[in-house]
Order: sequence, then structure tokens, then C-alpha cells
Amino acid sequence: MHFYIHIPFCESKCHYCAFTSLKKENYEKSYFKALSNDIDFHLKKFNIHRNQIKTLFIGGGTPSCIDANNYEYIFEILHPYLAKNAEISCEANPNSATLNWLKAMKNIGINRISFGAQSFHSEKLKFLGRIHNQEMIFKALENSHKVGFANINLDLIYDTKMDNKKMLEFELLNLEKIKPLITHLSAYNLTIESKTAFAKKENFKKNAPNLMKFFIQEITKLGFFQYEISNFSKNKNSICKHNLGYWKGKDYIGCGLSAVGFYKNQRFYTAKNLKSYIKDPTFRNIEKLSPQDLNLEHLFLGLRSIVGIQEKKLNLKQKEKANLLVKEKKLELKKGIYYNLNFLISDELALYF
Ligand SMILES: C[S@@+](CC[C@H](N)C(=O)[O-])C[C@H]1O[C@@H](n2cnc3c(N)ncnc32)[C@H](O)[C@@H]1O
Ligand code: SF4
Repeated sequence: MHFYIHIPFCESKCHYCAFTSLKKENYEKSYFKALSNDIDFHLKKFNIHRNQIKTLFIGGGTPSCIDANNYEYIFEILHPYLAKNAEISCEANPNSATLNWLKAMKNIGINRISFGAQSFHSEKLKFLGRIHNQEMIFKALENSHKVGFANINLDLIYDTKMDNKKMLEFELLNLEKIKPLITHLSAYNLTIESKTAFAKKENFKKNAPNLMKFFIQEITKLGFFQYEISNFSKNKNSICKHNLGYWKGKDYIGCGLSAVGFYKNQRFYTAKNLKSYIKDPTFRNIEKLSPQDLNLEHLFLGLRSIVGIQEKKLNLKQKEKANLLVKEKKLELKKGIYYNLNFLISDELALYF
């Protein structure tokens, strides 16, 4: 079983972001109280046993804008259910992840930290609406090492209007500098999400497939291997097990405002409004997924990553298509699983099916 917790608070709103992120105001205490009830209730509801949770991911929003002692109570509840070698990740922003916060989170049990850097370039950071600078990224990484984090991820965003070859070379140069400090990299191609500042008429996205190819190639040359279209790991041990769980279609519990869970082919949605969530944190909207929905999801997620697609999950027509793609050297079939040989064409391949 996997577990996701959403922290919906941020200090400011980035221009591209559609995640639930609100100003804390004075909701912190009541939110964490509701969140603990939600977690406790769902551990029981899904009959979770001791040591059964293999990965826990605290995402946001900005978990680092919350005082570390708020997480202590949640960990007291979760602790017996976490597997001995569980991967426990937490997202953080470079400006708010202080040495003391990192130290406290490490002591609570976090063993993987994920920084939203987005860029090293001051103008690009401003353009994205970020409130940190390059120096803060370096400091946060340095501090993470100081407190003993061995598993560290960095998020970058590219294919923005400001990205050209020169800009990407600048990102790569800095990536090379900090390479010894990180074990994982997520490089996201900018998505223009509705209701964000970037969703205006002006085109904030570059839409340059050649630059995408260049960036990915250069990242791999730095010694990271691509295991999903946006995810790169230094070695097999630093692959994010939590995300791998999502792509494999494993069950997971999602707690917190706007969190999503998945269990036995059903998707569970919590309240989308902060006051409603605090009032009734255990409420869930349930969506039952049809066999077609599950098949499509398996195709998209499998083709985008090293997970691949299982032969037994394909119908006759799809199997014929898959075998044709093997002949064209686009897929490889090994022990009943079709593996995509080029993640850059994954969506095209999925649509072909
Ligand atoms: C859930 S967000 C929260 C992380 C954290 N609050 C931060 O901003 O540093 C995780 C990552 O998703 C990526 N992301 C969010 N919106 C995106 C978008 N519209 N296009 C591409 N990447 C996006 C960013 O790289 C971000 O760091
Ligand atoms: S990208 Fe991160 S910091 Fe920015 S608004 Fe979204 S969740 Fe908040």
C-alpha cells in the first residue's frame, strides 16, 4: 500500500500552477487536526496492517511552509503502519526549507526530500512567479546534506517561452555543479493549466520538441538515466518508489484537501474546499473506473515509463498493434511485457493503440 498526504498551503502562487495551494492564514491548526482524523479513519477503513505502507509522500502545496511539529502528531499515527524500509518523501521549497526545518523533518522520519527548484536562472524564476533565487537552491541542498538526507530530488520546468538552447545550457551547467548533491531529477515540460496566470492568451510555452530532445539527452549525459518521460535517477536505488507505484496502478490512500486515492479500481476524491474539508475530512467522492478506463490508463502510464505494458492486459487488436510496433523496433517484448524504447513518443504510441 502507498500513502499520499496533501498540504494545501503556499506562501505565494506560481504562474503555472494548478495544484491546490492557499494562504495559511490561521487554518494551520484546524487543518492538521482534520488531517489526523482523516488519516486515522482511513487506516482503519482500509484495514491497513502494521508495516504495510511501503511509501509515504507528503506533497503540496508547500509542506516546508508548515512548522515541523505539526507533522509529529501525524507521524505518531502513521508510524506503526510504515514498513521498516519505507520510502518517506516530502516536498519542499528552497526558500522555506531551513536547516532547522530539514533537521526536524529528518528526525520525524522523512528520508527523501524533493525541492521545487524549477530553474537556476533569476529571470526565468521571476517569469515563473517563484520567490526564491539560485543561492537558496544551493543552500537548501547543502543543508539537506548537512542533516544527512541521502535521497534528494530536484524539480525543474522547461519549454517555457524563455527556454532556448542557451537557457537550457545554463540549467545544465548548474545541474552539473549540484550533481554530487542530488540523486534524482524531475524535469517537467511546462503544461499550461486552465485558471492559472499562464492560461491567458499570450503564449507562455515554447513548444519546441527539438529542445526537449536536447535537454533530455544532455541530462542523461550527466549520468542520470530516464525511467519516465519527466523522471531521471542516478541509480536503480534512487528511483522514486512512490511514483512507480502510481504508474504500476497500485492501490494508494490519499488524505488531505484535494487528495486523490485509488483502491480496487475506484478513485476517491476528498473535499475541494478548505472549510468543507476541515468540517468533514473523511468524506470521499467515489468514481468507479470501467475496464476501458483502466486499460487506457495502463497504456499511457506504462508507455511513459519503465513499467511497460502487460501483454495479458491487451485485447486481441491491441496485441496485434503491439507486435507491429515490436517489428518496427518501437517496442520491445520481454517476459510478457512490452517496453517503450523512446519515451518521447509515448503519447503518440498510446493513441495508436
Ligand atoms: C506539486 S508541485 C509542488 C512542489 C512545491 N510546492 C514547489 O513548488 O516547489 C510539484 C512540481 O510539479 C511541477 N509543476 C507544477 N505545475 C506544473 C506545470 N503546469 N507544468 C509543469 N510542471 C509543473 C513543478 O516542477 C513542481 O515543483
Ligand atoms: S508550484 Fe509549488 S509553490 Fe508554486 S503555487 Fe504550486 S504548489 Fe505552491
